[in-house]
Amino acid sequence: MTPHDEVTPVLETVGLTKHFPLRRGRRQVVHAVDGIDTRLMRGTVVALVGESGSGKSTVARLLAQLLPATSGVIRLNGTPVSAHFGRRFRGYVRNVQMILQDPFASLNPIHTVRYVLGRSISIHHPKDDEIRAR
Ligand SMILES: Nc1ncnc2c1ncn2[C@@H]1O[C@H](COP(=O)(O)OP(=O)(O)O)[C@@H](O)[C@H]1O
Ligand SMILES: [Mg+2]
Repeated sequence: MTPHDEVTPVLETVGLTKHFPLRRGRRQVVHAVDGIDTRLMRGTVVALVGESGSGKSTVARLLAQLLPATSGVIRLNGTPVSAHFGRRFRGYVRNVQMILQDPFASLNPIHTVRYVLGRSISIHHPKDDEIRAR
């Protein structure tokens, strides 16, 4: 069902687009990402390079499903991503995740390491009682 071959991109976008409304209720929009086609092949790295404001972070958020796309398609191992909640959505976000650059801004210092790491294990592996071992 989910092919792991050399020709199917691991992660692919076709015409991925994100427009942000400029003001509530107005028609004007910011064209943050306008119809991009990308392919990440197995065993390779893709870098998105561009000037500030060119849409790099928006693409990352779209791929991580932190933002809904205005239009376009995202495919993981050939399967279009359509679920935005539920079991299929959790399966997607288990495989496609952001690694944030600044751990001091990303991790809440009030929480213990066990809490921070254990939470994602318990969300993604609810039947797994080996949180401590992991
Ligand atoms: N939540 C948002 N609401 C409105 N405009 C946004 C939002 N996020 C990003 N933008 C706009 O989209 C464009 C692309 O931003 P961004 O993806 O952050 O670029 P980069 O990461 O390449 O610097 C910019 O014009 C930015 O102001
Ligand atoms: Mg950015």
